[in-house]
Amino acid sequence: MSAGDSEVREALASVADPQLRRGITELGMVRATRVRRGRVSVTLALPVAAHPGRDELLLRVRGALEALPGVRDIEVGLTPMSEEERAGLRRHLRGERAASDRSNPFARPGSPTRVLGISSGKGGVGKSSVTVNTALTLARLGHKVSVLDADVYGFSVPKMLGIEHDPMVIDDLLVPPVAYGVGCMSIGFFVGDEQPVMWRGPLDILVVDMPPGTGDVAMSMAQYLPRTEIFVVTTPQPAAQRVAQRSALMAKKLKLAVRGVVENMSWFTGDDGTRYEIFGSGGGRSLAQELGVPLVGQLPLVPALRAGGDEGRPVTVTDPTGEVSRAFEETAKRIEALGPARIYRRELAVH
Ligand SMILES: Nc1ncnc2c1ncn2[C@@H]1O[C@H](COP(=O)(O)OP(=O)(O)OP(=O)(O)O)[C@@H](O)[C@H]1O
Ligand SMILES: [Mg+2]
Repeated sequence: MSAGDSEVREALASVADPQLRRGITELGMVRATRVRRGRVSVTLALPVAAHPGRDELLLRVRGALEALPGVRDIEVGLTPMSEEERAGLRRHLRGERAASDRSNPFARPGSPTRVLGISSGKGGVGKSSVTVNTALTLARLGHKVSVLDADVYGFSVPKMLGIEHDPMVIDDLLVPPVAYGVGCMSIGFFVGDEQPVMWRGPLDILVVDMPPGTGDVAMSMAQYLPRTEIFVVTTPQPAAQRVAQRSALMAKKLKLAVRGVVENMSWFTGDDGTRYEIFGSGGGRSLAQELGVPLVGQLPLVPALRAGGDEGRPVTVTDPTGEVSRAFEETAKRIEALGPARIYRRELAVH
């Protein structure tokens, strides 16, 4: 039996828009379908004319329709949404929240979103790389994840994720770009406060590339995201005490809890399998001890990680079973297992 109209509609209902991360049927993007003797034609209404996820969307739609029995020919027409359709979509995306409700979804009690603040006592230790690859790994483990680039001194997350387009704007609703299934937001989305940002509701995890120190940006970020759990990235040099003091002081000033330490560039594995500890060893463990938190991960130095970051094709996506990707997976699983902080320690002891 060949597929009929209801099978076609059902197949389309399973397709998610790559940027909006929800079903195209639910989003009101399927305008018309027609099935005749194995020829399927579909008209999709796009929320914006220059839909950044358009090519991927077409691939997904074709893929879903090709899988149906008896389908020989597929035609997908694209048309911009009417004003009415766009208003409906906008309402749908904002959910129950009233148009006037500009409140912060992360500060609400009972918010289901864990906020992981990736921080470091000094620059260049791999904070942004750890942010991006941890987010991608958590997404692969099945969580709905977005990254927030809050390091205003060197925005690097969009580049590492290969994001080249601006956020989609549906009327006045800002839709942060999505790459490899992970949403990417910039701190700039918050500060203006004029434009509502679409929080593709409920996000499981928001991973933040933290601004360094305790300046104005860090302070307002911490106020905006008061439930941020801090993970400190460090290198293996045994300079832990100073870094620990700085990180603990930072967390105390920001009134955030430190939850764990990630050691980066822990070793380099040679062709013969030998591990070389280029930057020494023990830094992560002693920092974790100083801070009284677990060492949640040790990540090897892998040239492909740097290359992936430069090219906007992260190593955890291109080589998900490679050495560093497996280390990210272990790290992500430990963070998962820690669970959200039950009590927010408002005051932290400084050694
Ligand atoms: N495990 C690793 N293996 C190989 N290269 C790495 C690793 N971690 C980070 N790098 C590289 O080291 C450089 C610094 O990393 P990254 O930009 O992530 O650090 P950062 O702490 O965010 O730096 P900044 O202080 O400039 O924001 C980058 O070129 C990155 O690709
Ligand atoms: Mg950085």
